[in-house]
Amino acid sequence: MADISYDDEHRTWLIRLASTAYGLGLSGDGRVVRHLHWGPPCQPDDLAVLAAAGPAAHGTSRIGWGEEEPAEYVPWGGPRFDEPTLKADFADGTRGIEWRVTGHDIARDQTGATLTLDLADLAYPLRARLHYRAFDDSDVLERWASIRHAGGGGPIVLRQAHSANWWLPRRERWRLRYLTGGWASETRPAQAVLGPGKFTLESRRGVTSHHLQPYVALDDGTATEHSGEVWSALLAWSGSFRLVAETTPGGSVHVSGGWNEFDAPLELAPGDELSLPVFAGCYSGAGLGGLSRSWHAYELRHVLGDPARAGGSPSFPATSVPPGARAARLAGDGLPALRPVLYNSWEATGFDVTEEGQAELARLAAGLGVELFVVDDGWFAGRRDDHAGLGDWTPDPVKFPRGLGPLIDRVHELGMGFGLWIEPEMVNPDSDLYRAHPDWVLHFDRRSRSERRNQLVLNLARDDVAEWVHAVVDRLLSEHRIDFIKWDMNRHFSEPGWPDQAGRNPERVWTGYVRNLYAILDRLRAAHPDVAFEACEGGGGRIDLAMLARSEQAWISDNTDAWDRILIQEGFSQAYPAQAMMCWVTDSPNPLTGRRLPLRYRFHVAMSGALGLGGDLTRWSEAELTEARDLVARYKEIRPVVQHGHQHRLASTQDGPLGAVQYLSADGGRAVVFAWTGVRRFRPWPSRLRLAGLDPAARYRDEDSGEERSGASLMRLGLPLPDELDYASVLVRLRRTGISGQITASG
Ligand code: GLA
Repeated sequence: MADISYDDEHRTWLIRLASTAYGLGLSGDGRVVRHLHWGPPCQPDDLAVLAAAGPAAHGTSRIGWGEEEPAEYVPWGGPRFDEPTLKADFADGTRGIEWRVTGHDIARDQTGATLTLDLADLAYPLRARLHYRAFDDSDVLERWASIRHAGGGGPIVLRQAHSANWWLPRRERWRLRYLTGGWASETRPAQAVLGPGKFTLESRRGVTSHHLQPYVALDDGTATEHSGEVWSALLAWSGSFRLVAETTPGGSVHVSGGWNEFDAPLELAPGDELSLPVFAGCYSGAGLGGLSRSWHAYELRHVLGDPARAGGSPSFPATSVPPGARAARLAGDGLPALRPVLYNSWEATGFDVTEEGQAELARLAAGLGVELFVVDDGWFAGRRDDHAGLGDWTPDPVKFPRGLGPLIDRVHELGMGFGLWIEPEMVNPDSDLYRAHPDWVLHFDRRSRSERRNQLVLNLARDDVAEWVHAVVDRLLSEHRIDFIKWDMNRHFSEPGWPDQAGRNPERVWTGYVRNLYAILDRLRAAHPDVAFEACEGGGGRIDLAMLARSEQAWISDNTDAWDRILIQEGFSQAYPAQAMMCWVTDSPNPLTGRRLPLRYRFHVAMSGALGLGGDLTRWSEAELTEARDLVARYKEIRPVVQHGHQHRLASTQDGPLGAVQYLSADGGRAVVFAWTGVRRFRPWPSRLRLAGLDPAARYRDEDSGEERSGASLMRLGLPLPDELDYASVLVRLRRTGISGQITASG
C-alpha cells in the first residue's frame, strides 16, 4: 500500500512504495526541495536525521566553488554548475531561476497516492509543479513536472526542461548499465563505469531509436542478476530524449532526464502550461532480476495497453477508452488480456501481397492454431517495392481487385482475427499524397529533402496533417473488420523544418510531433477499443513506456535469427515484459543472417515471449507443419505463465553459449524454463541449470517426464542440460505438487 506523509516539524515528505521508500525535505530557507532518500524502507525519523545533516549528508561539498545541494528539480541560476533540469530565459533578458516552494498537496486515488510540490520564481511568472505518483502494488515511482507561465510580461523561453532528476546515495563507485543497438541488433545490454563528468544517453532522431533506450540501471559494481542494490530509471517519451548521469566534483551522482532540448527551445506565452513526460524510477535490493520483475509488474498493471489512470503527463493517456470497453482488453485478474498467437506475412511474401497468396497463408496458419493473421507491407496502391505508395492508403486495385473485404472475411471464417500493417507517418515522393501536399513533410525550403528508404516524414506537429493521419486510420478501421494494427515508422527525422512557422518557434516540431502522435493513437484506441496495436519502428526503434501505453505489444527487431534474438530479448527484458515482446518463428536458413537452426529451437526462443510465426508456410514440409502445430498448442498451454508470470533470467548468452530464462506463475504453482545453447568451444559445459524463485520446501513435477524434485534441489542442483553440441534447446514445465517432507541432496 503506497503512503505519502508530511512531517511538519522537520518539513520532510516520506513516500512509502510497496516495499521501498523515497524521501525529500525542504531546505531551511524554503527555497530548495532536497532529495533525502531512495532505497529500502525508512521511517520519518530517518528522514529527520538526514534533513538535519543538510546537504553534507549527501556527501556534497560546499567550499565556495558552487552549490551541490541535491535539489529534486535543479534550476539553472545562481552558483550551480551541475546539469540543470530547467533553464529559462525571460523577456527582459534575465536568464536563470530563483525559486521558492509555495505549497504541496498529498492525495489518494484508486491505484495509489500522489504528491505535488509547487515552486514559484521569486520575480517572474514562472511556476513549476513537481509530480510524484506511487502505486499501491509497485516500487516504481513516477515523476514528472509541469511548467506554467502564470501571466504578465512577455514570453518565457525554456532552453531545457527535463522531467525529473534522480539522486543516488553516496557510494565508492558507480556502474551504469544501459541498452544499445542498431537496426536488427536492438536492446543489447551494455555498461560503463562512471567517472567524474557526464555520461549521456540521447536520441536526436525524433524517435526513441534503435541506438539507445531511455533506460539506465545503476549499482556500485557489486550487484548481480540475483542480488545487490540497483537504482533504475525509464523515460516515458517516444521522441528525442536525453538522460545525463553526472558525477559532480563533490562526488555525488545524479541522473537528469527528459525530452532532448537540442534544437528545441520552447516558448511559453502568458497562460501556457507545459506538462513533461514521466521519468519513472525504481529501486530494487534483489539485483537486476528483482529490478526487471518490478518494472514488468508495474508495466503489466499500469502501462501496457490502457493504463486507465488520471492524466497529467503526456506520457500516459488521460482518458483512454470507456471503462466498459477497457474491460475487453483485460484478463479477469486486471492484467492485460493474453496476446494471441500471430502470423505475419512480411518475411514470406515481402511486397508481393495478393488476395490469393494471403488466403493460402491464412489457411495454413489457421491449421497450425494461429489466432491472428496480419498482412504486412505491400497491400496498398502503387506499393510494388519500397519506392512508392506510402501515403496512399487504399487497397491496391491490382493485388486486391475486390478490396480487402473478401480476404478479411476469409480470415475471420478461418477463426482468426485480421491485422494490417500501416506506416501512416510517412510518405514516398512517388505517391498521390506527396504530389498533392509536398509541403506536408518535415523540410527547410532551401535545403535538400533527404530520403531514407525512399521516404520522407510527414510533419505530424501540424494539426492539419495529424488530422489527416487520424482520418486515414479511422476510416480503415471503420470500413473494415480489422482487429489489429501494426503501426510502423521506418526512418528518423532529418531537416526538421516547419517553414510556415518561421519566427514562431518552429523548433517545437520535435515535441509537437510526439504529442500529436499520442493524440492520434489515443483517439483511435478510444473509438476502436477492440483493436489491438503493435508498436514498430523498423523493428524496435520506438519502444518506450509511452508507446507501450498505447500498444498491446511491440515488434522488437527485424532480426528473426533465433540465436541473435536471444540477446535482443534478454536486453528487452531488462526494461519491458515478455507479454509485450512479439517474437516470430521464421524460415531456416534465416533470410537475414543465413543461419540454419532447428524448427524446435526457433520455436523455443520465440515461445519465451508473445509467440508469432513469420515464415513462408507454403514451403514448410508436412513434418514441419505437424511439429509447428504441436508447438503452438504447447505454447497456448504455457502462455499464461510466460505472459503474466515472474521472469528469472538464469543464464546469459553474454557470458557464454547458454541462454536460459524461467517464468514462474504469480501463485508459484507453475514454472516454465527455456534453455538454448549456441556454438560451444573449449570451455567446459555447465551441465546443469539452477532454477530460481521456487519454494525450497515444495515439490515440483516435470510435466513431461513425471519426475518429481524439491524446490531446494531444483535451485541448488538444477536441471540437466542437453548433451547435443550446438544449437540445442529445452523447454521444461514444472507444476508444484505439494510440500516436500524432506530435502535430500539428490532431490
Ligand atoms: C519494417 C518492419 C518490418 C516490416 C517492414 C515492411 O522494417 O520492422 O517488420 O513490417 O517494415 O516494410
